[in-house]
Amino acid sequence: MKKPPQCACCGNKPAVGRGPYRRGFLSKLLALALGALALAVPAVVGLISALNPLRVKGQGGRFFRVTSLDALPEDGTPRRFPIIADRKDAWTLFPNQPIGSVFLRRTGPSEVKALAVICPHAGCFIDFDAKAGGFLCPCHMAHFDLDGKRTDEQSQSPRDMDPLEEVEIRDKRDVYVKFQRFQTGTPQRIVEA
Ligand code: FES
Repeated sequence: MKKPPQCACCGNKPAVGRGPYRRGFLSKLLALALGALALAVPAVVGLISALNPLRVKGQGGRFFRVTSLDALPEDGTPRRFPIIADRKDAWTLFPNQPIGSVFLRRTGPSEVKALAVICPHAGCFIDFDAKAGGFLCPCHMAHFDLDGKRTDEQSQSPRDMDPLEEVEIRDKRDVYVKFQRFQTGTPQRIVEA
């Protein structure tokens, strides 16, 4: 019977017995790689979502149907409306979610102006103050007139309310607004990405 090969210097059997150790090592390496991959995939997907504000923050810069022209008082009293859209995170679709709000005001038979509801100072929600005939931010009491201009010289707001410039009346009845968000705390009006 043929003898197994032996090491010339120590006399051990070199090849026999090493196979199982090598296989064990490779199995552990593979398990580690799979584990790392399993952790990396959700992390990468989350990162992509986090870096994509359009997807997560509410689809800014798109036209949304907000209401019908009939829903706006003819006397020009502003009304606040939600912006409704489908919302997605990394894994799930949430249909018909409120992603923001706008003030709409009728300024003519088929003319509508839109203002953002977020205060340019620190991002609180501005209210329409019917008694004062203008807008009021309850957080630091900034006042604005119906056009969104500051009426208080000591206003905490660094700029007037943010107008949403693009409003369209489609089919003579549906009011569409190009919804945008703006950075707060700056005198300049800067659209968020
Ligand atoms: S957040 Fe509106 S005045 Fe401060």
